[in-house]
Amino acid sequence: MSLKIALTKGRIEEPVIALLSAAGVDCEPLKNKKRKLIVNTSDEKYEFILAKGPDVTTYLNSGVVDIGIVGSDILTEHRNNQYELLDLEIGKCQFVLASTEDFDINKEGRRVIGTKYPLITQKYFESLGQDVEVIKIEGSVELAPLIGLADAIVDITETGTTLRENNLYIYDYLDKVSTRFVVNRMSLKQNAREIYSLVDRLEQVIKANN
Ligand code: PRP
Repeated sequence: MSLKIALTKGRIEEPVIALLSAAGVDCEPLKNKKRKLIVNTSDEKYEFILAKGPDVTTYLNSGVVDIGIVGSDILTEHRNNQYELLDLEIGKCQFVLASTEDFDINKEGRRVIGTKYPLITQKYFESLGQDVEVIKIEGSVELAPLIGLADAIVDITETGTTLRENNLYIYDYLDKVSTRFVVNRMSLKQNAREIYSLVDRLEQVIKANN
């Protein structure tokens, strides 16, 4: 039976495919998947399921996939309780507190913070002993302070381009983020040999890359 791997769609797809290829996984079907959401390798060793990050954690928890490849931002926000085996050291970015130039970080009063990550945001402000109102936003979080919805945002930044192009400034740096290889606990017991073999090969590629 093939190992089922939920892979987060979007910007990490390309570097993940490069890593997997270097680790000996036949990724040609993945490279040519077009709009397909489930892709099998020709040797039928792996079945890739392309999904949004939060759904990868849902699939892992429900046991419908063996492995999930997903960002640590999502794992933290969705309180992952499966088994994180490897930091793939790609998809590197960082959480920041950002806002417009006139944002006063020390201003008295309850501030409104826009974010895709309410739990992480709440914890950050709790650690500062500050009470804030958190508004959950689904995408393009940078809009929130620009359209008057929030005083500031907590979001991830990779290149800093989105912030820069929207005249937003970083007021604090929070946790760093990278892509992780996570395994469903039950599946690890049942498929230990295959999973650890893939992990070993990936580890070697990561070491050689860094
Ligand atoms: C993420 C993040 C920022 C952007 C930062 O969004 O929420 O908007 O990337 O990247 P940069 O620093 O390289 O500019 P994503 O592209 O995942 O899209 P979304 O906001 O629509 O979820």
